Amino acid sequence: MALSRLRMWVITATAVWLALAMDSKSWRVSAQATAVVSASPLTAEEAGLASAYSPPSPDEVNLFESWLAQWSIQARSRSPSAPVPPEVLALFGGPGDTGVTSGTPGVVAVEGGAGGQVAMTGGGRRRRRRRRRSLLTVEPALDGDQLHAPPHPSSPLGGRRELQQPASSLSPAPGNTASRNARPPSSSSIPGVDAVVAKDGSGQFTTVQAAVNNAPGNKRYVVLVKRGTYVEKVVVSKAYVTLRGEGPYLTKLTYSDTNAATGSTPASASVSVTGNFFSAEDIEFANGAPRPDTSSRNGQAVAIRIEGDQAAFYNCRFTGYQDTLLSLRGRHYFKNCYVRGSVDFIFGDGTAMFLDSDLYADVIDKGGYLTAQLRGTATSTTGFVFLRCKVNGNGLVYLGRPWGNAARTVFAYTYLSEMVQPKGWNDWGKDVKKLTVFYGEYKNTGPGAATGRRVNWSRQLTDAQAKPFLTVDFINGMSWIPQCGLKGLTGKV
Ligand SMILES: *[C@@H]1O[C@H](CO)[C@@H](O)[C@H](O)[C@H]1NC(C)=O
Repeated sequence: MALSRLRMWVITATAVWLALAMDSKSWRVSAQATAVVSASPLTAEEAGLASAYSPPSPDEVNLFESWLAQWSIQARSRSPSAPVPPEVLALFGGPGDTGVTSGTPGVVAVEGGAGGQVAMTGGGRRRRRRRRRSLLTVEPALDGDQLHAPPHPSSPLGGRRELQQPASSLSPAPGNTASRNARPPSSSSIPGVDAVVAKDGSGQFTTVQAAVNNAPGNKRYVVLVKRGTYVEKVVVSKAYVTLRGEGPYLTKLTYSDTNAATGSTPASASVSVTGNFFSAEDIEFANGAPRPDTSSRNGQAVAIRIEGDQAAFYNCRFTGYQDTLLSLRGRHYFKNCYVRGSVDFIFGDGTAMFLDSDLYADVIDKGGYLTAQLRGTATSTTGFVFLRCKVNGNGLVYLGRPWGNAARTVFAYTYLSEMVQPKGWNDWGKDVKKLTVFYGEYKNTGPGAATGRRVNWSRQLTDAQAKPFLTVDFINGMSWIPQCGLKGLTGKV
């Protein structure tokens, strides 16, 4: 059967973070539903539904309610010694209760319990859809910021890894009336935060750009961007700026410029980072321009352009379609991130490493290209490395095509779904580039990792050949990542 007939309909629902008071402990519930797989071709209506389903509503309460409206949930603990807290049960309707919400044909079952991962299996909006595992975590918030990342879901269909958020940055949860009225602390009372941006005026700034402009440029300057959608075109030209959101589904920086509107692809970026030592965590970078259709020209729409050296990102989302993430030049590190795009959606002449990150080709049926690396010559040290990542999508995608003649891209220990083209790589119609590109694969897994039909100018790396790409030495990361100013990466890589 043609792959297109087995096209997956993957709905990325929402993620919600709640802090619930329970005795002296606070509990965090984070939920992310990546579910609903269809084995039949999409109707136009379904395709519309799927795309309309992308998260999020900027408002957390709406977010949670809309999420609940789509799913029924039951919760039970696997661990008798650590039961699901009653507040959580109340949220989900209690043990064994699948009827928390009405009018929802799908059922989500939550298994697991306190202090650990909670698995959620779910159906969707339509009864005929198959059930798939998804994710939901219920875990006690630890003291301080030392929350550890949960393990990778064991199943590649288990949805993407939970995006973590330090509990300390949480605002009061919806539904938790005890803390709902608490005011966020003023900036001066947040240790390690130099400026607070809040749309409601409760911070020092109401725009991200204003806060960034206030950075000294010679030492770390941490900007806490409170939850909300900031429709701004931001340029970070100062060095040592850190943008910290409240969560990758809660704080969103977006703009909707395109190549057509600005005259160039790099200029379309919603956020441009030209200063060195930039970092960001718990935030979404988006370009809100609509998906270009086949007849549109110059539809490239960059979410972020990074041309500063030594930039690090942790627990961030990057969303767009064509040309989402421009790693233009410099050494860049992405950990626990999510990148969505359609065509060439990670591109540029940067030296970038993506670790434990999710890459989602939102191409429906036109086909796409994950990377377009720009290395010009074989002696240049730039390139993209994807280590322990996951590649999923809703249509076929090539791992890369060469923007530069000597484009260098390596996927290692990465799950490649059946949406990866069996040939793997594309030459962009330039036969000669086959001689100069470096396209490597090493110990990948999943149906898309089958090598039988790979183009013969890509490389299945030997251990020795793979070695330079398997550690952060590729970006000299040990020397700078631990000092990048991110809570999620403090003292480590
Ligand atoms: C690679 O594949 C192409 C097309 O399938 C073929 O023409 C060519 O001879 C192959 N090259 C090598 C070195 O095997």
